[in-house]
Amino acid sequence: MRPVIIDTDPGIDDAIAILFALNHPGLEVLTLTTVAGNIGLDRTTWNAGRLAAFMGRDVPVHPGAARPLRSDAINEERIHGDDGLGGVAFPAPRIPASDVGATEAMADLLDRHPERSITVLTLGPLTNLAQLITQAPQAASRIGAVVSMGGAVHEPGNVGDRAEFNIVWDAHAADIVFRAGLDLTLVPLDTTRKFRADKAYLAALRRTGQKAAIASADLIAAYQDQKNMAGHSRPLHDPCVPMLITAPGVFDVQQMNLSVDTETGAIRSGECPLKVSMGLDAEAARQVLLRGLS
Ligand code: RIB
Ligand code: CA
Repeated sequence: MRPVIIDTDPGIDDAIAILFALNHPGLEVLTLTTVAGNIGLDRTTWNAGRLAAFMGRDVPVHPGAARPLRSDAINEERIHGDDGLGGVAFPAPRIPASDVGATEAMADLLDRHPERSITVLTLGPLTNLAQLITQAPQAASRIGAVVSMGGAVHEPGNVGDRAEFNIVWDAHAADIVFRAGLDLTLVPLDTTRKFRADKAYLAALRRTGQKAAIASADLIAAYQDQKNMAGHSRPLHDPCVPMLITAPGVFDVQQMNLSVDTETGAIRSGECPLKVSMGLDAEAARQVLLRGLS
């Protein structure tokens, strides 16, 4: 079992990633740390607890940043709905969110686990991880690997023409994370826009009869933007992150030197050596997701 911390702003695609990780026999989800992003922190924290409860798991939920380090917050409620999960029915959390904050909880887990044994998966803005790096650098240096959904390298952005939501929401935090010398793999829009579902795939998820797969079909259907995607869903951004560690062969990961433009939130070539997934085998990835959810 690979121990993982999932930092997240659930969010419909976050929810599918979390259901996948909780259901996957090869992953031990130590905690869900939450950040504002798609929707406010109270709602992302509540949703993290709902997803754990849905899977019958008392995974600790530690709330983190309600706003970016320096700028004002934007949100994506237009995509994720006013409950953040597209109105899909999930139970209430079984246990209340912890009153220990995300950064303190991450540092405590890192101190208590063997050095470099924990993988941090980030599915939202990077404010919590940036806070850990600046407030608990010793603990941050014990992180094994980080896999982050974020950025757009050659792809157009989804906030303006160059920026991607998770990065631009807190570009200063992203800059801190990029420069921290972590073993960081970025999963940008260059990969995630290639990963979508169609109606046949939703039917295949439902046919498994497994609750994580059925709920994911409901989430994708809620996420589907009928106006723009004839038959195909919006990109399944965040599920690419846990899948990259359970099925790395499905992704095309390259070594690149990148930087964050802290004014615009755009990613450009620069001086931070990162691994970047620039593509994936979408059909193989859909099978990995279906198997992991069922
Ligand atoms: O740009 C896509 C990212 O922004 C995803 O993580 C989605 O959940 C939103 O947070
Ligand atoms: Ca997200």
